[in-house]
Amino acid sequence: MCGIVGYVGPREATPILVDGLKRLEYRGYDSAGIAVLGEDGLVRVTRSEGKLGNLTARIEGEPLAGRTGIGHTRWATHGRPSEENAHPHRDASGRVVVIHNGIIENFLPLKKALLARGVPFTSETDSEVIAQAIGAAHSDAPDRPFGEIVRTVLSGMTGMYAVVVLSADEPHVLYVAKNGPPIVLGLGEGENLVASDATALLPHTRDLVFLEDGDFVRLTATTVEVTGLDGVPRSRPSRRVPWDAVAAEKGGYPHFMAKEIAEQPTVVVETVGHKLSLETGRFSEDAMGVSPKLLAGVDRIVIVACGTSWHAGLVGKFLLEEVARVPVEVDYSSEFRYRRSLVGPRTLVVGISQSGETADTVAALTDAKRSGAPTVGVVNVPGSAIARLVDGVLATHAGPEIGVASTKAFTTQLVALALLAYYAREARGGGGLEPGDPFLAGLAHLPVALQQALALEPKIEKLSRTLAHARDVLFLGRGAHYPVALEGALKLKEISYIHAEGYPAGEMKHGPIALIDGELPVVALAPKDALYDKVASNLREVKAREGRLIAFVSPGDEDVATFADEVLEVPLVHPALQPVVSVVPLQLLAYHVARRRGCDVDQPRNLAKSVTVE
Ligand code: AGP
Repeated sequence: MCGIVGYVGPREATPILVDGLKRLEYRGYDSAGIAVLGEDGLVRVTRSEGKLGNLTARIEGEPLAGRTGIGHTRWATHGRPSEENAHPHRDASGRVVVIHNGIIENFLPLKKALLARGVPFTSETDSEVIAQAIGAAHSDAPDRPFGEIVRTVLSGMTGMYAVVVLSADEPHVLYVAKNGPPIVLGLGEGENLVASDATALLPHTRDLVFLEDGDFVRLTATTVEVTGLDGVPRSRPSRRVPWDAVAAEKGGYPHFMAKEIAEQPTVVVETVGHKLSLETGRFSEDAMGVSPKLLAGVDRIVIVACGTSWHAGLVGKFLLEEVARVPVEVDYSSEFRYRRSLVGPRTLVVGISQSGETADTVAALTDAKRSGAPTVGVVNVPGSAIARLVDGVLATHAGPEIGVASTKAFTTQLVALALLAYYAREARGGGGLEPGDPFLAGLAHLPVALQQALALEPKIEKLSRTLAHARDVLFLGRGAHYPVALEGALKLKEISYIHAEGYPAGEMKHGPIALIDGELPVVALAPKDALYDKVASNLREVKAREGRLIAFVSPGDEDVATFADEVLEVPLVHPALQPVVSVVPLQLLAYHVARRRGCDVDQPRNLAKSVTVE
């Protein structure tokens, strides 16, 4: 997750920006930069690839003096990690600089229009489009208030952003906008700050303003004006937070799990990263962790994992077989390692693990390597045992996942596996992704759809009341949503201690339907996909036996929604990405049921975050 810091006040900005970026290092990044407005009215920018040490070395060589500045640590999304792609980005005049966290969904047409009028771009990023669009609009109307220009430009952008803008033409003013990724203001004595999260602000102030989606702020050393993009004032009172470092890392959420569920729109973008260009459809081989040549040469893929990661593997099987037409088996690591497996040089073994330290998965991959099989790790922790063990890493970029119940790690695993499916399809002669492919558009839209799924939380919190005293709960799904049903059941049982079971909806009549009565809640995933009609008839069987049916359907559903007891509409996205969105309501359901039951949401009884023993 990118890191954002901004300062305006009487002190030198550079040391404050660098310290703030250091406090955000835990978010992960591959390049960094700062921009400072000098007393001579010029904005100077220093950026570097790699760790902050490279940036500070640059700054020591060429100090940046000034009292207003912005800083950014970037996890590469559009465009590979490089100095040119690092933030802050400038407009063509060099007088407007921008830092951005998120994804601009419609950056392509905006960039094309600016290129058509001769605007010179210097990077591959969507973020530069923000700077160039503001700069172009400013040069078209130099007398128009700069803040109005920024609001107008952002109003024409769809997607997700936390943005800070600094212009030499309006000195000692920062413009801040939020739509998706978190951003917080810090109110000091005669100075004000802005950052991605409170950890970068607490050394300076505990008076924080947590911005909401759609907020637009004009920030000076002594004033804070909050409006919408329509210019209408909004009230955003500050809060004095009594936080220690751990509380600060929760960023205002009651639990790490809640924060990590909310981070999913941002971290899925980071996981796509520079693995795949949404503009060209081209993959980056080094970021995918396995070569097309190897993928073309294997007979099958074996996935080994545990728990939630095993559920991700089941979705991966569905995608790899459906899209790349390559046979896939999914095995529990703890089973695989004690089986005389039949893997060899023509079997690609993929280990999926958030922690990268799960003993069973480490052992399974070690056995696979011993058998001569090439190995890939889908891992979230760089430098973990599995990351060091395998031949290649297909990294998820969920950032630190503190809650024992895995949430954002799961959805980023699903995104990584969807990329692998299309990458394998191209490698095995099934055709690549052309610009404009629906899958590319689906990836660009995914963060917005996830935001919409998160907006179901108030309804789900209300729904959790009906499950809080259940003894058993059944989760049903078909196709790629059968593993999502398993995941929903695991989330519920591991944090609320209610027994829950996930089942293929088509299997009901082979036994579980005997369980159905007026007491047993049945949670069903019924997206409008190729199997919808089958699921609908399975759910009618449940209702015919007085089952209590809670259905997650697609918007405008006119079938299941007519007979389910509870109906919630979940955004419909590209089929290969639908599980990523469908699981979010189930995560929220488990979270709120566990809260109602007074359970320890972040550290459930008997569980460890990483099972490093057998
Ligand atoms: C998921 O909520 C659980 N915490 C657990 O099943 C976890 O997914 C499993 O232990 C695997 O962990 P890993 O992804 O770090 O290998």
